[in-house]
Amino acid sequence: MCDIKLNNVYVITSGKGGAGKSTVTAHLGVQLTKLNKRVLLIDMDEGLRSLDLMLNVSSHTLFDVSDIIKGNCTVNQAVIPVRQCQNLYLLPAPVTVNSLNSPKGMKFLCDSLSKYFDYILIDSPAGVGKGFINAISGANGALVVVNSDPISIRDGAYVAKLLRENHINNSRLIINKFESKLVKKGVFYNIDETIDATTLQLIGVVPNDFELQKTVDNCGEYINTTPAIEAFERIARRLAGENCSLLVN
Ligand SMILES: Nc1ncnc2c1ncn2[C@@H]1O[C@H](COP(=O)(O)OP(=O)(O)O)[C@@H](O)[C@H]1O
Ligand SMILES: [Mg+2]
Repeated sequence: MCDIKLNNVYVITSGKGGAGKSTVTAHLGVQLTKLNKRVLLIDMDEGLRSLDLMLNVSSHTLFDVSDIIKGNCTVNQAVIPVRQCQNLYLLPAPVTVNSLNSPKGMKFLCDSLSKYFDYILIDSPAGVGKGFINAISGANGALVVVNSDPISIRDGAYVAKLLRENHINNSRLIINKFESKLVKKGVFYNIDETIDATTLQLIGVVPNDFELQKTVDNCGEYINTTPAIEAFERIARRLAGENCSLLVN
């Protein structure tokens, strides 16, 4: 078992859906295990869960995070080891909506589990309502995922403000689906503009890469490492405290 860590429970969030929260959660989880970290992913997107599919473990899901909070099962019954990816575990979201409404339960769960994992990554649902509050309740840090278009950036800035209001001050920015040619064409904001608009410290830039739409079934043993996979590796290293440069296509 690991020692108790501070700031090791991160919520991965954004305003609207589609920014890449679940993709970031899955790939960052894989990359952290490659640094010999023990990682738990918690899917909080009730009704629209996706991490079990992304990680190819759907057939193994029996219980979910709400079952633990309600006392329907033990942690060991609900947490699924991700096949072929040693030290990666998933706690799935409920398949139905309105099953999760317990910020206190979520905080207690994360506080209890953080003793046993180097990192807990919580995949937040879209929106800034009840689901968002549940997802952030157990976190002591946040990774805000934005794309470089004006709407996504405005969402990111709003989420950053909400995180501060909810006493999460350790928030970092991930710019996802980045394309420098669209910045040059004036379609996307550049990296400095995105940092300024969101008021968040940058931890990584992930290029647009359609390879990421495949499932993560080979768990990091990628045949062709793409710039996006390299970007996730760098984010994992920076999260773990290493001083490594950003990667931009
Ligand atoms: N860097 C990327 N490049 C290309 N496609 C991406 C990237 N990140 C995410 N996607 C795709 O965007 C879609 C939405 O991603 P997802 O992670 O489900 O978003 P969210 O969880 O924020 O709703 C998915 O089809 C996913 O494969
Ligand atoms: Mg998602």
